Amino acid sequence: MRYNIRDMAIFLSHSPEETKSFAAQYAKTLRPGDVVLLEGEMGAGKTAFAQGVARGLGVTEDVLSPTYAYVNSYEPMFHFDCYRIESERQAEELGFFDYFDAGKICLIEWSENIAGLLPADCKKVVIRKVNEEEREIVT
Ligand SMILES: Nc1ncnc2c1ncn2[C@@H]1O[C@H](COP(=O)(O)OP(=O)(O)O)[C@@H](O)[C@H]1O
Ligand SMILES: [Mg+2]
Repeated sequence: MRYNIRDMAIFLSHSPEETKSFAAQYAKTLRPGDVVLLEGEMGAGKTAFAQGVARGLGVTEDVLSPTYAYVNSYEPMFHFDCYRIESERQAEELGFFDYFDAGKICLIEWSENIAGLLPADCKKVVIRKVNEEEREIVT
């Protein structure tokens, strides 16, 4: 199910696979250098969405949660998980600005932790857990 309110699209997903295939379609709207913030609570499906984007971009490697590495690099995207970032200074030291400027698509989980470092024109995807199986995805 999909409906649009002004230029905001809301999609209701009924399974992880449906989230991934929606994300794979969404990936077609992305351009090199786009920074996409993935928002939603733990277990909402941010990583599942990133896996779908990767599929849509033709990434053949397995996309795993970068929780310990902070950022995983694929062609043509970076996947960040800032859950464990302790300060913006730490993120700067990890070279985040270079990643944002590399001309690749950046997908960022827990961007709240690096709010002051983000480029001005980020895209946003908000995933809300409706129940065990359903997710409302706002793009
Ligand atoms: N419709 C759905 N879309 C995405 N994930 C779902 C859905 N229904 C159930 N899930 C489950 O929710 C969890 C989402 O995990 P994950 O993508 O790692 O979330 P996050 O990265 O937001 O913490 C997975 O265990 C997945 O199987
Ligand atoms: Mg995750």
